[in-house]
Amino acid sequence: MSVIETAKAIAREAGAMIKSHMGTGFITETKSSSFDVVTEIDKASEQLIRQRLAEVYPDHAFLGEEESFAHSGELQERLELAKSEPFVWIVDPIDGTNNYVQGIPGFTVSIALACHGELIAGVIYDPCRDDIFWAEKGKGAFQNGEPIHVSPADSLGQSVVSTGFPSNTKMRQAVIDSLEGIAPQCRSIRSLGSAALHLAYVASGRLGAFWEYGLNAWDIAAGVLIIEEAGGKVSDTLGSPYSLTVKHVIGSNGRIHNTLLETLKPIGI
Ligand code: IPD
Ligand code: CA
Ligand code: CA
Ligand code: CA
Repeated sequence: MSVIETAKAIAREAGAMIKSHMGTGFITETKSSSFDVVTEIDKASEQLIRQRLAEVYPDHAFLGEEESFAHSGELQERLELAKSEPFVWIVDPIDGTNNYVQGIPGFTVSIALACHGELIAGVIYDPCRDDIFWAEKGKGAFQNGEPIHVSPADSLGQSVVSTGFPSNTKMRQAVIDSLEGIAPQCRSIRSLGSAALHLAYVASGRLGAFWEYGLNAWDIAAGVLIIEEAGGKVSDTLGSPYSLTVKHVIGSNGRIHNTLLETLKPIGI
């Protein structure tokens, strides 16, 4: 099986497992703050994905959100190291845990593969809608087997733009501050609760753009490649190119990228 077919099959298996446990009274813990929740199913999903990948690719490195170092000072160092790994899988086992815990449809499994820091494959699976988005470097982006392209909108006024509310209070305040500049100019604003889902929707043209502060590689890596392969653009919020260490991100259809960048710049994160 090809790399992308393997990643898709694993994302579907993990997604089905997550969905089958919805509302079954799993244990919820908090991590960095009371807003940062995790369930047994986040951990079980990561374990499943890690195990399946190791069966097929025993030599590949793995970076998942639920690893012990992922919320420590070691993370930046590990991400720098990941940039030189021949192959590293970057995994968010449930993106949108707050939706999952509340029983709100709109959580995803996000799996990306980077080769020496360059993204070469990405899959985002939404098990509630059975929607799967994927891309391979140079081969285009797809949703459920059909090619996808970013929206043709050339202004914020023609675009539905999305953001998220990070658990980190400083980052959340930055999002709130930036909304004041952006919200009056867009057709509308959405916050669906999964950064990966937002990025997939930018790639498929459902959304014109997405921005958020304080994300991590597992939230965005798959979505970055899917947007780029769908003809869009991703950068940090100062306009620098995406890399695995980027935390403040804008993904767009490309045409409205600079307008969004200009509007965000005064936040200065
Ligand atoms: C979160 C989601 C959410 C975003 C947060 C992320 P998690 O990831 O992507 O949409 O606003 O910043 O941390 O914790 O559910 O994997
Ligand atoms: Ca989390
Ligand atoms: Ca996440
Ligand atoms: Ca997660």
